[in-house]
Amino acid sequence: MRKRLIVSAASALALLLAVPASAATPSPGAAGVGDPYYPTYGNGGYDVSHYDIRLKYQPATDLLEGTTTILATATQDLSRFNLDFVLDVQQVLVNGRAARFASTGEAELEVTPDRPIAKGSPVTVVVRYSGVPGEVERDGYSAWLRTPDGGVAANEPVAAWWWFPSNDHPTDKATFDVSVLVPDGTQVISNGLSTGQSSRAGWTRYNWRQTKPQATYLATLAIGRFDVRTDTTPSGLPVITAYSKDLGENDGAARASVERTGELVDWLSGYFGEYPFTSVGGYVPNVPTGYALETQTQIFYSPAQFARGANTSVVVHELAHQWYGDSVSVQRWSDIWLNEGFARYSQWLWSEHENEGTAQELADYVYSYYPADNAFWTVKPGDPGADHQFSSAVYDRGAVAVQALRNTVGDEKFFQILKGWPAERRYGNATVQQFQTYAERISGKKLGDLFTTWLFTPSKPAVPSAGAPAKAVAGPASAALPQEPRSWKKIQETNSLHDNGSGHGHGR
Ligand code: TRP
Ligand code: ZN
Repeated sequence: MRKRLIVSAASALALLLAVPASAATPSPGAAGVGDPYYPTYGNGGYDVSHYDIRLKYQPATDLLEGTTTILATATQDLSRFNLDFVLDVQQVLVNGRAARFASTGEAELEVTPDRPIAKGSPVTVVVRYSGVPGEVERDGYSAWLRTPDGGVAANEPVAAWWWFPSNDHPTDKATFDVSVLVPDGTQVISNGLSTGQSSRAGWTRYNWRQTKPQATYLATLAIGRFDVRTDTTPSGLPVITAYSKDLGENDGAARASVERTGELVDWLSGYFGEYPFTSVGGYVPNVPTGYALETQTQIFYSPAQFARGANTSVVVHELAHQWYGDSVSVQRWSDIWLNEGFARYSQWLWSEHENEGTAQELADYVYSYYPADNAFWTVKPGDPGADHQFSSAVYDRGAVAVQALRNTVGDEKFFQILKGWPAERRYGNATVQQFQTYAERISGKKLGDLFTTWLFTPSKPAVPSAGAPAKAVAGPASAALPQEPRSWKKIQETNSLHDNGSGHGHGR
């Protein structure tokens, strides 16, 4: 045994001496994954499998302190690598050894380990940090929304920067454990399932676990005084909902909407197939914003969305994202139509189900609503540009594109595609082009012209929705706007607060 060990040590030494001639010199990982809209988002050179986020938060001062442990694998020989983060860092360890670090650029944390990391090897990174996230601004805003009783991290395309260091791009999904210590009487909400809590000396620790792959922007954290409810759907899926104790007049309408989550997720499963995650729910914190976000399993809603009464349409929209956006995520941010076009279309299906206007009527209404010279038609939903990533064209023209697909391939193939795609790409990433290829495979039709017309042409298409019987625009009244579908206003409210196309959604 001993002798063999000596022999193999000798051959290992020979191998080691031979390595420098053939192996690549370790080099820095890229400061971005190469997303054309956001060149610095995410990082190159490694792949994260798990985030363990352990924090302490003080609602009175907005002080957030903690440690995040990242499990990753090097995808190149690394001399150093970046994380994306904006809070103050006190210490970084790489595989247990202190590493040098520096905060650079808009949100880069450059980490230089004391020895290079070989391609393919596992890396454990520990980052110790603190900060007042509500006061740290980038591009004029903070994604950390302060509330009277705490704070919330929910934003798109970026929210993670303000609460944990990460490889912040949808292409690097990971599992998550989130554990937060807060003063007794304050609650903590995050993604997935609660794995228990414990109290000691005036502080309570809450633990949450997401066991399915999750993109960093879909991780959420809410701290405040909540009424938390847990239940299960008839099919046995845990449902967790939470309402700020300060929703005032909006409390009833918020609950009358979000408490229908279980029913609506079951209804959507009929169209999109098996629900991809192990829990579902939503929370309504006391924030002044006007938007919702499809944070994975635990959806973020703003009270303002319930100021005009219950709104099941927005719940349907965010639940649809669990398949279209969360389980199947964009490959690049330019693929946003795969999220918003389908989430909007699901609202049209719900409208049809509720007898408030059919999908075809809504498609025809969108077509007639915007005259050809309206800037609406200059945005290409298939590649809207970073400045128009969330403009209404991505949603509304995007959903007309889905209706045009339906009319071209017929209902049977269409609903086969709608259900098949989330199964085909479950927990992965995809491009608009890959969706087109999939739809062509299932339908047996060439769809290039259709996709070019509806998603990639910066002007109003000549025909309402390809192959559609032009019923809503036919006849002598063809120039007139068709009657407004009853669901129209509610549906528009889903994203009316960022019609300017800003992804930041802060107070606009
Ligand atoms: N994806 C969100 C939705 O349509 C909308 C959204 C875009 C958003 N940018 C945002 C939400 C920024 C919050 C913050 O459901
Ligand atoms: Zn959406």
